[in-house]
Amino acid sequence: MKKNNFVILKFGGSVITDKEKPFKARVNVIDRLAREVSEYEGKMIIIHGGGSFGHPVAHKYKIKDGYKEKQQLIGFAKTHSAMQKLNIIVTQRLIKYGVPAVSVPPVSTTLSQDGIIKKLECETIERMLNIGLIPVLYGDTVLDMNMGFTIVSGDQIASHLSIKFNAAQLIFVLDVDGLFTDDPRKTPEKAKLIEEIDVQSLKKTTNIFERKGGIDVTGGIAEKVKWIIPVAEKGIPVILLNGNVPGRLKKALTGVKTVGTYIHG
Ligand code: IPE
Repeated sequence: MKKNNFVILKFGGSVITDKEKPFKARVNVIDRLAREVSEYEGKMIIIHGGGSFGHPVAHKYKIKDGYKEKQQLIGFAKTHSAMQKLNIIVTQRLIKYGVPAVSVPPVSTTLSQDGIIKKLECETIERMLNIGLIPVLYGDTVLDMNMGFTIVSGDQIASHLSIKFNAAQLIFVLDVDGLFTDDPRKTPEKAKLIEEIDVQSLKKTTNIFERKGGIDVTGGIAEKVKWIIPVAEKGIPVILLNGNVPGRLKKALTGVKTVGTYIHG
């Protein structure tokens, strides 16, 4: 895959949904992000999170812990169905702004082993990209070789695909400006935005804030950093930015410096 114009984009569940209100998509925000994406001309894969669609159902039925009892099966189906609902909203809004977004459901294209992606069917994704389509994946319920089933986060999928396709950059669209030196919600006076960091320093940074609000079965910012590290170690630049502020995503996509955290290898 040609490296210079290929972007992997992850829309965090906290920016595209209202994490406090079950099944509430933030349609205005999705629309604006879709418009910003529509102005980008290169190849792209979009992955979105679960927010108030996937997380509460997955939590209720303990889907991430694996298959333990039969009642979880309906929970597995409900969790996937919740993610499909959000995925339809995201793809429809992208299409509305002229982005040829095509859903690639991880439940039927991905297998994990102890929660780590072992297989992700990439030939179809590659052909979609080559023809000019934009594959859209999401954090989802997946079958697991040892646990029966589990949840694979959008962050893990984004990390996996960035490395697999040797992306030019990986962009995380969040509801905060990026990574901070302290929790900006608890101690705003101490919390400073980390504008730039290399992967070695990132590995040593332990005081990264944990997300507050809503249920998050896949582990918040600390887990996100875990998936960022192998990408940055491959020399792929990673940017974390605030999707609630108009224009930042568009700037990052076009290589213009914006407010956010830039991580390099
Ligand atoms: C979670 O995906 C998917 C499910 C709970 C089914 P993510 O972990 O990527 O979601 P967000 O971005 O944190 O909401």
